[in-house]
Order: sequence, then C-alpha cells, then structure tokens
Amino acid sequence: MRTDTAQIVRLEDYQPSDFLIDRVELDVRLHPTETRVTATLVMRPNPEGRSDAPLVLDGEEMNLKAVSLNGRTLTAEEFEASPQSLTIAQAPRQPFTLTVETELNPTANTKLMGLYRSSGNYCTQCEAEGFRRITYFLDRPDVLSVYNTRIEADRDDVPVLLGNGNRIESGSIDGSDRHYAVWHDPHPKPSYLFALVGGRLGRVSKTFTTMSGREVELAIYVEPGKEDRADYALDALERSMRWDEKIFGREYDLDVFNIVAVSDFNMGAMENKGLNIFNDKYVLASPETATDTDYAHIEAIIAHEYFHNWTGNRVTCRDWFQLCLKEGLTVFRDQEFSSDERSRPVHRIAEVKTLRARQFLEDSSPLAHPVRPTQYREINNFYTATVYEKGAEIVRMLKTIIGDDDFRRGMDLYFERCDGTAAAVEDFLRAFADVTGRDLSHFARWYEQSGTPRVKVKGHYDPDARTYRLDLAQSTPPTPGQAKKEAMAIPVALGLVAHDGSAMSASCDRVDQRGVFLFDKPEDSITFTGVASLPVPSLFRGFSAPVKLSLDLPNEELLVLLRHDTDSFNRWQAAQSVAMRLLVYLSTGVEVADEDIDAFSAALCSFTDRNAQDDPAFAALVVTLPSEADVAQEIGQDVDPDAIHRARSEMRRRIGQGCAKHLQRFYETLTVSGPYSPDAASAGRRALRNASLDLLAAADPDTGEALAVRQLESASNMTDRLASLSVLTTLPGAVREEAIARFGDRYRNEPLVLDKWFTLQAAIPEDGTLERVKALMQHPAFSIANPNRVRSLIGSFAMLNQVQFNRADGAGYRFLASIVLRADELNPQLAARLLTAFSTWRMMESTRRSHAEQVLRSIAQKPNLSRDVGDIVSRSLE
Ligand code: PHE
Ligand code: ZN
Repeated sequence: MRTDTAQIVRLEDYQPSDFLIDRVELDVRLHPTETRVTATLVMRPNPEGRSDAPLVLDGEEMNLKAVSLNGRTLTAEEFEASPQSLTIAQAPRQPFTLTVETELNPTANTKLMGLYRSSGNYCTQCEAEGFRRITYFLDRPDVLSVYNTRIEADRDDVPVLLGNGNRIESGSIDGSDRHYAVWHDPHPKPSYLFALVGGRLGRVSKTFTTMSGREVELAIYVEPGKEDRADYALDALERSMRWDEKIFGREYDLDVFNIVAVSDFNMGAMENKGLNIFNDKYVLASPETATDTDYAHIEAIIAHEYFHNWTGNRVTCRDWFQLCLKEGLTVFRDQEFSSDERSRPVHRIAEVKTLRARQFLEDSSPLAHPVRPTQYREINNFYTATVYEKGAEIVRMLKTIIGDDDFRRGMDLYFERCDGTAAAVEDFLRAFADVTGRDLSHFARWYEQSGTPRVKVKGHYDPDARTYRLDLAQSTPPTPGQAKKEAMAIPVALGLVAHDGSAMSASCDRVDQRGVFLFDKPEDSITFTGVASLPVPSLFRGFSAPVKLSLDLPNEELLVLLRHDTDSFNRWQAAQSVAMRLLVYLSTGVEVADEDIDAFSAALCSFTDRNAQDDPAFAALVVTLPSEADVAQEIGQDVDPDAIHRARSEMRRRIGQGCAKHLQRFYETLTVSGPYSPDAASAGRRALRNASLDLLAAADPDTGEALAVRQLESASNMTDRLASLSVLTTLPGAVREEAIARFGDRYRNEPLVLDKWFTLQAAIPEDGTLERVKALMQHPAFSIANPNRVRSLIGSFAMLNQVQFNRADGAGYRFLASIVLRADELNPQLAARLLTAFSTWRMMESTRRSHAEQVLRSIAQKPNLSRDVGDIVSRSLE
C-alpha cells in the first residue's frame, strides 16, 4: 500500500498571497522544441499578506534560463530555483519588476497542460495549474493581472497567432521568416485563464452587435478544410450571447471573441478570456459526421464556455475549493439556455439522467466529496460530476426556493459586488440572503455535506376528515470523512393527482404559492385539507432536489401519474419507477407476474401512442428503460451484472413484443423529410423512431436486423446511420461484422466518427469484446496519447459495458489497470479519469469485488505513480 502522503491542500489553510502581480508582459517565441518565454512581472507586496515572507513562485518542469530584478540580473546567491519553484528570500518591500526567462519543449508535452502541440499547432491549457508549466508564477486564482502577450513564430508554419483580449499589433520581422502579434487583455485575470494559440488554421466569423450597440467580431478556428463544420457552433455562440443579455443582462466586454478547436484536449473545452479553446468534438459538426446528440452537446458547451465570461472570468474564484462557484453556476446557466432553446421538460429529464448516472454514483462511491471539497491532493481530480452537476442543482434549488424574480435580483447584486474579484461561495449566497432577507445558512449545507440524501415518504388519507397527510423523513448516508450527517434544506415541489386524473383542489399552508414545501428537519408531516378522494402524491416535481425518494406507490398508482400528472418530469419518472422495480426484481430473482410486465408494456404503448406525434422526444425517453448501470446502482450491493443484463434484455424483448404494432407504426410514420436539420423537433422524431427500432429488434432479431441494415444503407445523416449500427451491434453474426467493417472503412479518415465506432464495439455485451477492444487498439486511428480516442475505446468499455468490464474472471479489471498505468506515463489526468471506472467496485458481488480490490492494490504499489492516479487509487481503496 502506498504510504506516500503527498501534500494535502486544505480549505482552512487559505491565506492571501504575500505578493501581487499587477501586470504581465509575456514574450513567447514559438519553436517546436525550444520555445523561449520571457515573462516580465510587475509586482508588489500584498498589503493583506505577510510582511516578512519570501517570494515563492510556482513552477513545474521548468527550465530556467535567466532571472533579473528591476533590470539587474540576479546572481546565483540571490535566488533559489528548481523545476518546481523559484524563491527570492529577500524580495523588495516596494513595487518591483521581475523578469524570468524559461525554455519549453511543447512537442514533448504529452500531459496537454501548459504549452503543447496538437496536430502540429501550438496551444495552451492552464486551468487549474498549467501556467506554471509556461513560466514561474504566483499560479493561484486570487492573483489577478493585466496581460500583454507578444507571440512570435515562423510565418509559414504558424500563420495564425492568437492571444487573450484584443490584438493591438502585428507584423513581420524584417530580414527573417518570422512574424509576430501582440495581444492585450484589459481585464485583470488569474493565470488559469491565460491562453495562446499558434498554427495553421481555417476560420469562420461573423459580427455580433451587443445590447449597447458595440460590434464584436466572433471567430472560430478549425483545421483547414473543416470550416463549414463550424457553422453550427458559430450560430450557437451568437444565440448564447443574445440569451445572456436577455436573461441575465450580461454583455460581452472585448472587441473579439475567438474559439479554437484542437484534437488533443483533456476536457470538453476551456473558457480562457476572449480565446476559448475547445476539444474539436464540441465544435465540429456536419450531418454526415455528427448526431443530434453531438449538436446538442456543441450548443451546450459553446454556451457554457461563453457564460463563463461572467461566471468565472469577470467574477473568478478565490481558491480551487470554490470551483463550484464558477462551474456549478455555469452549468446551471447552460442548462437553462438549452431548456429555453429546446424543450424544457425533455432537457430536464436528460439532466437528471446524467446526474443520477454520474453524480449519484460518485456520491455513493469511495470518491464521494462535498460540492465544495475541504481538501485535495490533486485539484485535477475535482472536476467532477459533484462539483459541476450537483453544483448546478444547488443553484436551481436556490431559485426554486426564492423564486425567479429574487433569483435574478440576487444574481445582479452578486455581479455588481463581485465583478473584478476572486470570490467565494459565501459571497454568492450573501447576495441572495441580502436581496431576500432570508437566512441561507442552513441551505449552505448543500455545499458542505456529501452523499445523496434519501427522503422517505408515507401518505395517509382520512376519507371522513377529507385530509391527506404526508410523513417525511430524511437521512444522508455516511461518506468519506463524514460519518454523521445533518438534515438538509430540501425543496419539495409537489401536488396531488386524483385516480381519475382530475385536478384536486386540496390545500396545505406549508406549501408556498409555487407549490413548494421546504423540508428542513430530520422528520416532518404536512397535511392537505379538502381532499375529496384518495390521491396519488406527485413529489419532487421537476426533480426539485437531488435526492433519492423512497415512496412505495403500487404500480397502478405510478401508472396513474404516467397518465395524468401535470408535471412532465414526474410522468417520465413514474414509468421509470415501474421499470426499475420490475428490473430489480428480475435481476435479483424475485418473482414477477407476467401480468405486471404486460400491464406496464400496455401503459407504455398507450402513453407513447398519445404522445408520439406531439412530443416524440418525450415519448422516446419514456420507452427507454433504465440502463444496466442504473439498475446496478439501485440494487447497490452484491451486484451481479450478468443477471442485470439478462433482466434488461428480457424486459426489452417483452416490451418490444407487447408494443410491436405501435412501434412498427412509429417506425414507419416518424420519418423526417427534407434536408437534415438538428433542431429539437426533428431530432425528437428520429429519437422515437430509433428507440422503436431498438425495441423491435429486441423482440424479433430477424426483422430488426433487416430494418437496421436497410436504414444503415439509406440513412442520410449520422444520427440514423449510427442508431442502426448500434442496433446491429446487439445482434451477433456475420451481418453485424460486415456492417461494422464497412462503417469503419467509410469513415477511416474521420477520427470523431471512428470514436463512435470504437464506442459501439467496446459496449458489445459479449465475451469476445475484450479481445475486440485490444485488437482495435492496433487500429491506425487509435492512439494512447489522444484523450478522445482513449475515452471512446477504453473509457466506454469500462464505463458503458457493465458485463464485460465487470467480467467474473477479473480480466476486464486487469485490462483497465494495464491501460491506466501506460497512460499515466504520458498523461496523468487522462489516466486518473479512466481509473474512476473502479469507483463501483465495492457494490459488486464478492468474486468481482475481490478481483477489483486486488487490481487496485497492485496499482497502488507501483512506483512513480502520478499524483493524479495515486490520489484516485488510494481514495478508491479507503
Ligand atoms: N473550466 C473548464 C469548463 O468549462 C473545464 C476544464 C478544466 C478544462 C480544466 C480544462 C482543464 O468546465
Ligand atoms: Zn466550466
């Protein structure tokens, strides 16, 4: 077991910086292996810092060439330098200028942090602590500086030079084949928002006029030849800018907004000031290469990064413990944007599906942590579903509790007070407390306490008194470092539904005008009066809080909600709850009467039938069963993935047979005519049609195969083509293999499409899949150094293929471990992320559990693990 206690950073130890950097002049001379960086830092002691402290600048793998103070070169005795830090013990007590020259090798940078090369182009990634890989610096988010960046490079190899802010100068260097550009960003920013790009890039652009009438040039840079694939992203950017003006009153604040797409990127995208850098999969789209889901993701991520301009950049974070301050809030904002641009109920269901699949899973795993963590060993490991998605749910709950108008007033106050500062979660909450006069200290517990609260509810109807009482109890399970839990402030949006579907005129004085009851004690009861008949309670409407509800409604009552609830989310939830109950029974050997499955299937048919034309996207969600991973999470212990797989296959078959007539009709009638458009309405028709195909194939493989083959050949867009290939992957045989091979050949020069092809194959729930995945690692397009390739092949195998990753012989675990160790030598962030697939190991049955434990222990014993992997493996074993 690893005994190394790499340094732990604690929230309670926060101290303001002893020095400040007001201005940064960077001179970067790009070269493939010997890039020279000269950083001139205009500094002064921080009045809020210690007055006797040495100056200690952060570095990582730095190669120092020269250092001078106020223009005088320092002698070896006057400073101490290592690759990790630069210390000047006797730093001046008045303002001073420090000049540091370093040399970097961007070609050798495989961590994709700091300055690196992707497809030959130069780019940077500085969040969270990558700037220290470019120069020595006070690399912490509460040190804000105004940057001037001069970039110089070979004119032919690197024609495009981009930096933060506005370009103020450019030209050629006489007598050489080099040119330069100077960029100035007037907005003080922390180093993590710094970026530069140099390369050979194609460009699309348009002009945007802001609400106050200023003109902004919007541009997206992509691999030359792929310009037309950036049009959708550019349009999404314009819509995001308009939306933020309208909904939050936020205007853009520079003359240009640039986005660059790169092929090698650890995350989705990065909000560098005025120069967002994107994983190209979240920019590039064409009907031939991108699915409806890809388009929706592009729209959401373009919006997310743009919205950071105010929530993250203008108001930034005091320290990395406050990460949710920008991420949770910005996810909330991008979710609201997508809801406004598309269908709100459909989007809400999609949000909750990911929240449950990723965040609830994390919250019940050894990696559980609060939305605002209190300590970390490696901050890169805290860009999690908890910080992002649960962080967004907290903002949404706040809005639910205080109402739309006060929410907007609170946001305005937050921006007004905190603009230009590095803020903390407390500053955010204080704005809302001040505009509403409410005490939000109890609510703040959502940031501190980890684990998913469970809310148990029982209903009691008294026909004589015509009252209906709900008894509620809440508890939160223990999580690492938090054995005992306090009650949370949980907003419960609720209503009552009569069995015949009619509206009930019941009332309850504990429920506010918005239909919300704030449940903030361990136990509570609320009583409705004037309840004319036995109601069905509809709780957590719109998923008003990120909790697990235990309420044992019989299937018939859930089906009443599916039919009649006015809340769409709960209509969907009702169907899911019935499906989940049946799946859990079937998976764990509890007997299920045929009639129960038939009744459910009949309810699905008639529900889908009624909604297929008006809201096919919603109907598609309703007919989609919980995933195998969802069922495993629900069972929670001694999980047998094979049994779950058999149960789910059986249910799909039964529903497919039971609803065959309807499904065939949807398949025939929900075609979309005309050229492909990614709009939500057309996407919804494709979604239901393809969900129907999937169920038809489950019911009758021969028919399914014939339909899928025909669709694969005739499809005019990637959504339909991929959906049919996906159906074929569930049907073993020569037809499938032939289809897979042809698809791979057709798209051999399209890496982003091959990623989908890798993913489909890695997810095949059959014994040969591990060998298939190993063989695909030899495919010319695969590279262990490219995060998208690794995630789509290896990540999908580990995260999507429940039966094969969790093979009873442990081979899936051993395979993942070997890849994690290989990847760790190149890219620790990528390796650590893959390793989180083990976070479910404790819920497996004992054979699998002991294989997983053995594998984790063997990883932990390896020498020279990165801090990223060391942190995940040790927490996974705790
Ligand atoms: N801040 C990025 C976002 O918008 C995520 C990110 C984190 C990207 C770290 C790169 C590195 O969510
Ligand atoms: Zn973000």
